[in-house]
Amino acid sequence: MRNLDEDNITQAVLARHAAMPDERLREIMTSLVQHLHSFAREVKLTEEEWFAGIQFLTETGQICSDKRQEFILLSDTLGLSMLVTALNNRKPQGCTESTVFGPFHVEGSPEYALGDNVAEGVKGEPCFVRGTVRDINGEPVPHASMEVWQADADGFYDVQYEHLEAHQGRGTFRSGPQGEFHFRSVRAEAYPIPYDGTVGRMLKALSRHPWRPAHLHFLIKAEGYETLITHVFRDGDQYLDSDAVFGVRSSLIADWVWHEAGIAPDGSRVDVPFYTLDFDFVLNPVQAGKAA
Ligand code: BEZ
Ligand code: FE
Repeated sequence: MRNLDEDNITQAVLARHAAMPDERLREIMTSLVQHLHSFAREVKLTEEEWFAGIQFLTETGQICSDKRQEFILLSDTLGLSMLVTALNNRKPQGCTESTVFGPFHVEGSPEYALGDNVAEGVKGEPCFVRGTVRDINGEPVPHASMEVWQADADGFYDVQYEHLEAHQGRGTFRSGPQGEFHFRSVRAEAYPIPYDGTVGRMLKALSRHPWRPAHLHFLIKAEGYETLITHVFRDGDQYLDSDAVFGVRSSLIADWVWHEAGIAPDGSRVDVPFYTLDFDFVLNPVQAGKAA
């Protein structure tokens, strides 16, 4: 095919893909090419703008390492991650909703017994978290694997500290025989997503802030139930309606209740004011033929 012009080049590209044996790949690539071309036509993309886009994506790739994934951050801040989460996690009313995974989960975080303190010296105000894991009928889900991770009082996850070897503010538990869980940590605080790279530059250019409202991450797995990836957000946080990654759902907002220094829910004595957080999770049973 020769002498292609702005009207017939899209069809020419699609025709080149016609022999692709993988049907799903063909579906995705057809739609991607159509949307990309439509986008360029719609905004009448100039050559300078095209090149600026190429440079932006090149730099985004150059920032990526085994510690940092700037492309996922780009997807998060453009709402794509949350859209994909929503599309793939439709659940019956009453189930705990999912939200974005985020880049700060660590495989194989330390195992703790119920009641343990996952803070491990991390900076922050003490917080006692408790709740239950249940199914949609209100039946307890015992022995569910529960991974929790959070930022410290300065808004950083342990993995963001270059020279920190030990895990802090993260851990794995199993719910008890009645689906109950409880542990100690520190109060979650709002924090900005990493904004010293291309994504930060983009947010600035768009007059957007990089902040996420305070939240606690959970990843919950139990036999026979869909894996739940979610957060609990702190009520009253100023960024609940402007989360940089569009992850907030009203059903995931909870109260961190302030208490005077004294006896904590686990019976221990705390010499400084502390918080309690109560939150129950409801898991969705795996549908026949669908993976957890
Ligand atoms: C997080 O909550 O850890 C997170 C999610 C998306 C982008 C950056 C951080
Ligand atoms: Fe987070």
